[in-house]
Amino acid sequence: MKMKPRLGVNIDHVATIRNARGGRHPDPVRAANVAENAGADGITAHLREDRRHISDDDIRRLGESIRLPLNLEMAATPEMLEIALHHKPRAACIVPEKREERTTEGGLDVFSSQDHLKRCISQLSDAGIRVSLFIEPDPRHLDAAVALDAPVVEFHTGAYCDAAGAARHRELQRIIDAAAHAEDLALECHAGHGLTFETVSAVAAIPTIVELNIGHFLVGEAIFGGLESSIKRMRSLMDRARAEAHGERSA
Ligand code: PXP
Repeated sequence: MKMKPRLGVNIDHVATIRNARGGRHPDPVRAANVAENAGADGITAHLREDRRHISDDDIRRLGESIRLPLNLEMAATPEMLEIALHHKPRAACIVPEKREERTTEGGLDVFSSQDHLKRCISQLSDAGIRVSLFIEPDPRHLDAAVALDAPVVEFHTGAYCDAAGAARHRELQRIIDAAAHAEDLALECHAGHGLTFETVSAVAAIPTIVELNIGHFLVGEAIFGGLESSIKRMRSLMDRARAEAHGERSA
């Protein structure tokens, strides 16, 4: 039996709502504890350069108080590297960051600044932090990740989630093909961005994708049915898709 995919719950947008008014409510650390009770395997948080949602203090409190492993999403800047090396989260996902974007709009440019990226990955890895690169599901990007000595990649699933009909099938196939290429290269494979109850199953069914990181949709759904319930439903859709995919392969 293939292992269930891990669910990393991204709590950034709990902080977005808190920051709309300032103060402390709703607290992303409380959301992390709810996520643990609802069956999450990890907590993901993106400390952005402009601190628009998660704050430095959130990272400190998450590091000190949650039991689940923390995956810190970060740009490869000297400031973020220093913060990561100070807090030593279990994992760090290197993402591209543009000040003017509303969210992380695409995968990392793994072709420019390779020396810089390689140094960043090596410093994080030497500190015992498991490094992933947030990339497009493209074989050339995977080859570049290997050259950079990254042990893990996370596929940006935004294009798949945004597309409809035949275009969505094409985007899904890109992810499936990239996951197969990652396996050949012995890269651990994660995926995330824009996943919903509707789009998660097809990605969770890919047997070599070991972790999905999901945030915005879960926090949005929490408005209607509660955070615990939205995470539990996502968890069960992921687990069912993986079990069914396994059943089909062994039938
Ligand atoms: N993975 C990475 C690397 C991300 O940057 C994000 C968005 O912060 C996510 C996953 C989660 O995306 P979403 O909030 O759309 O579920």
